[in-house]
Amino acid sequence: MQIQSQVQLRPFNTLGLDAVAAYYVQVHSAEDVVRAIDFAETKQLNLLVLSGGSNLLLPPEIHALVMHMHIQCIESVAEDVVSQTIRVGAGQNWHDFVLWTTTQQLYGLQNLALIPGMVGASPVQNIGAYGVEVGEFISAVDVYDRVLKQFSSITAQDCHFSYRHSIFKDNPDRYVITHVSFRLLKTADLKVSYGDLKAAMQDELTAENLQKQVMLIRQQKLPDPAQFPNAGSFFKNPVIALSVFKQLAVKFPDIPHYPQNNDQVKIAAGWLIDQAGWKGKQLGPVGMFDKQALVLVNYTGATLNEVKATYQAVQYDVYEKFNIRLEPEPVLFNDSGLIQVHLD
Ligand code: EPU
Repeated sequence: MQIQSQVQLRPFNTLGLDAVAAYYVQVHSAEDVVRAIDFAETKQLNLLVLSGGSNLLLPPEIHALVMHMHIQCIESVAEDVVSQTIRVGAGQNWHDFVLWTTTQQLYGLQNLALIPGMVGASPVQNIGAYGVEVGEFISAVDVYDRVLKQFSSITAQDCHFSYRHSIFKDNPDRYVITHVSFRLLKTADLKVSYGDLKAAMQDELTAENLQKQVMLIRQQKLPDPAQFPNAGSFFKNPVIALSVFKQLAVKFPDIPHYPQNNDQVKIAAGWLIDQAGWKGKQLGPVGMFDKQALVLVNYTGATLNEVKATYQAVQYDVYEKFNIRLEPEPVLFNDSGLIQVHLD
């Protein structure tokens, strides 16, 4: 394990922001995690855990220890008649892992193909797409607990998964995720109810075809970060009270919406942004993608401030038109490596 100083993180964040870490270390094992934390504590530095870098907003300089997660392993840890449990290192590429499960005829994650990032980040915001959330298939998350200074395993139930949320978001500095265990099914229970997917599925309904279709849809709509640096969906789909939704629907009857429990309705942020005139629109070097208005793209080497200027302008215009506040999905860090609330 080698700790480096003054390391440029641009290649490690999919939005392509210039960000220089005062200290940077790649960790390949649970023991490395403890050593890195010891170093940070001795130097009185905050710790910023970097995974696939696909959901972060980094400032130009970060006075912290950036721990880049590289723990890799895939092992079968339990099996019964209907399922097999696979424990995976936090630094394993998410999409490669999904493809691997399909080749092993293990089912559940196929709808989540091509989501960028690493396995260790998947429980943090409970990644989801096409009617599936990863929390449904996670059995446990192994962590190093920085408060109790010990390794532990947190059950799925104790992770409190909900839409783009988990306990890891509530306690950002407490846990370093080292491994995630997934309980996958031996017989496919394919979820094709999601609009786009249902319409597109023409081939025979198999897990392989479903995965292929999800990949095709994503490739058509979502920009490749190598060509257009981006952080996936930039805003969460807002969840509003049913009564507020009913008023809105009088004025905007076409608004795409998904009823939730507790008299709430989730509405499509992409549609709101599109209607507010931001689809394909740019402010300086940063704009909203022309094929999917929910994705913010850094077209030409933007700074964090330029990214903020664009997303705040989008928030403003959506609020003016719909009286709804959009909440950014990516995590914003300050120059001490701490997570910030998105102030606007
Ligand atoms: N829409 C527009 N204009 C746009 C974009 C979308 O009118 O520019 C409309 C669509 O026609 C559709 C609705 O908005 O009726 C929803 O759009 P879409 O089906 O593309 O899904 P989404 O709500 O925009 C969510 C997730 C994605 C996930 C897809 C598929 C969030 C914030 N985003 O997007 O997740 O892949 O559903 O399940 O929940 C991510 O989080 O990075 C991500 C890509």
